[in-house]
Amino acid sequence: MSSQAPRIAIYPGSFDPLTSGHVDIIERGSRIFDKIIVAILINAEKVPLFSEEERIAIIKDVFKGNKHVQAETFNGLLVDYAQEKNATVLVRGLRAVSDFEYEFQMALMNRHLAPGLETVFMMPDEKYTFVSSRLIKEVFTLGGEVAGLVPPVVEQKLRAKQKAKRK
Ligand code: PNS
Repeated sequence: MSSQAPRIAIYPGSFDPLTSGHVDIIERGSRIFDKIIVAILINAEKVPLFSEEERIAIIKDVFKGNKHVQAETFNGLLVDYAQEKNATVLVRGLRAVSDFEYEFQMALMNRHLAPGLETVFMMPDEKYTFVSSRLIKEVFTLGGEVAGLVPPVVEQKLRAKQKAKRK
């Protein structure tokens, strides 16, 4: 029997909304770590399209069959939250070289703040490399097709929001 502490990873982000690229990274992470906590940043300066409750519910719904995945919200410094959760790893997705500069800066700042916390970059399936929450919202709002780029539950909720707005 192994006496090793469980490997807990945090996958932080806004997830407004969760995309198929995020789902791909979470699935990959859940095969590597004992627990991957999808941590939604509560940002008081931004008005999200999906409330924190909606975003948590979406993640729980998509990963209901996966006991390695948890969804939570956090505010404040990510490194403090990671410490509170006994996490040793931060997971971030890298889609393209354009992501690198911002991610590199964040990873090094987090290392400066918490040297024991390691950032691990994971690449989603190449079919999702152009997908971002921002573009999903823009394309959907302008009448474009997002099927397959977000989980079906997100597509349904986007349609419901659009319908409610038209009333
Ligand atoms: O999905 P995003 O918006 O790219 O995620 C950014 C996130 C949530 C990872 C980042 O903004 C963050 O960690 N915020 C928490 C505050 C913090 O710790 N800031 C210093 C980061 S080096």
